[in-house]
Amino acid sequence: MQLRDLRVVALLALLCLAVGASASESPPKRPGQAAIASPHPLATRAGMEVLQAGGNAFDAAVAVSAALAVVEPYGSGLGGGGFWLLHRAEDRYQVMVDGRETAPGAAHRDMFLDDDGQPVPDLSRNSMLAAGIPGLPAGLVHLSSQYGRLPLGSALAPAIRYAEEGFEVYPRLLMGLEFKREQMLTSPAAAEVFLPGGELPELGSVLRQPDLARTLRRIVERGVEGFYAGPVAEALVAAVQAGGGIWTLEDLAGYRIVEREPVIMRYRDARIVAASLPSSGGVVLATVLNILDGYDLSSLSAEDATHLVIEAMRRGYRDRALYLGDPDFVDVPLEKLTHPLYAAGLRAGIRLDRALPSEYLPGIGSEPEGTQTTHFSIIDADGNRVGATQTLNFWYGNGLMAAGTGVLLNNEMDDFSAKPGVPDGFQLVTAQANMIEPHKRMLSSMTPTFIESPRGVAVLGTPGGSRIISMVLLGVLARVDEGASARQMVERRRFHHQYLPDRVVYETGAFDEATAEALRARGHVLAETSRDYGNLQVVTWDHADNRVQAASDPRGDLGEATEAY
Ligand code: DON
Repeated sequence: MQLRDLRVVALLALLCLAVGASASESPPKRPGQAAIASPHPLATRAGMEVLQAGGNAFDAAVAVSAALAVVEPYGSGLGGGGFWLLHRAEDRYQVMVDGRETAPGAAHRDMFLDDDGQPVPDLSRNSMLAAGIPGLPAGLVHLSSQYGRLPLGSALAPAIRYAEEGFEVYPRLLMGLEFKREQMLTSPAAAEVFLPGGELPELGSVLRQPDLARTLRRIVERGVEGFYAGPVAEALVAAVQAGGGIWTLEDLAGYRIVEREPVIMRYRDARIVAASLPSSGGVVLATVLNILDGYDLSSLSAEDATHLVIEAMRRGYRDRALYLGDPDFVDVPLEKLTHPLYAAGLRAGIRLDRALPSEYLPGIGSEPEGTQTTHFSIIDADGNRVGATQTLNFWYGNGLMAAGTGVLLNNEMDDFSAKPGVPDGFQLVTAQANMIEPHKRMLSSMTPTFIESPRGVAVLGTPGGSRIISMVLLGVLARVDEGASARQMVERRRFHHQYLPDRVVYETGAFDEATAEALRARGHVLAETSRDYGNLQVVTWDHADNRVQAASDPRGDLGEATEAY
């Protein structure tokens, strides 16, 4: 069967007609239909299958997370981590399930420095030292047992099927393999699955992952112990140690999911709920939106509005570099950073006629983009929501696999600061707050987000490294300021400023020539990228007509969004 044939056509929701839009003043209680946006049709389908079997959005999230770990092995996986932002409709409980990787117990702050004290990027990206202790398997079990309605086995069934029966090789999977090929050839287990005979698989051929299916089955049978103890854990530790890494069985046994309060902020008439530390996303969004809340962007010219958004991004990302890290290890002045008065102070330093060079901001003294990492958004018929972003960091993580497990290991340790002020793989700089310590979580940019306003609800997020936060920000502005639909949100052209390097990266077409000229005249350095970036997945529930909509980024080659079931 062709992948394209697997696209689930957006069915016209009979339920939608039955529930219908009421003329009443109060918002509808439940959407009565479901929507899922994910970057792969098989993952969207896995979620729909579980909803149809009586599962809720949380069961569907387990199914989609696990399916993506199988069919997008370059983006996320059991060997990686993620954040799941949840909204439970019955009591409006909102929480972020933190399944971020942790540093192994033997990790230390200078582990990626050479004898001269300089960072060795290869060590933090392409070695067994690059891998943090995975959080994704524990996240799946936690979500299912704490929030799901169905047994874990039902939610994991589609992923197991995809791993066993295989799925068709598609262009993006090959693109990542080309990139990671040399590294993967050093791992016989990874090469056996992804580079049969040492070669790239044929486009359209069927890729099976029987070991991964077996590992998933063990998780069904034994819960977290199926991964974090017993034969899988032993195989993982043996492979990591044989490759020069420092994992121990105690590191795996000691891994814990943490439930955290999301970051909540207001922007105009909307309440925004976003990922909290160790993701930097919510805090940076709060600073940027608090700054922008002091202007009426929709009444300004494109050049003024764009200039202000860039200046706000610069300041939000500066704070990321300076202050943010794992809150269980460092004191982060969260109240200050997310306070409207703090933003008012930052706003006072913004001039409408000039860009502020980043080096003039007190700070520390720094491009890969793309679709490694992955995000999906779900809303079910009862109004439960999940936004989840999960990752192995760069393409296929560190590209190395523990024999017999089917598990690719991450290279998330690169998200720590190897040395204050020295940029990481996303040219992000961080400081003391994000230095390596045993068991600490590395700072992330992954930003699953809810937008709640009188108009209704949106769930959104994307991969894209440091640019995740600015993409989510532009999504929020599009919906709140411009009334954009889900589709318009994913289609919007993008621009990005991350404090350092001090320049505005923008997609072709993000600015018209006059705006670009006006921005240059104010002192902005513009860097056009001909490569579109990101893979935004949005679902919305609009109260006026009580309809859900789902949209996948056209930049992803397979993204599939579907409404109703
Ligand atoms: O957690 C983070 O912020 C990164 N490890 C995410 C990596 C990513 O989005 C790669 N995709 N382009």
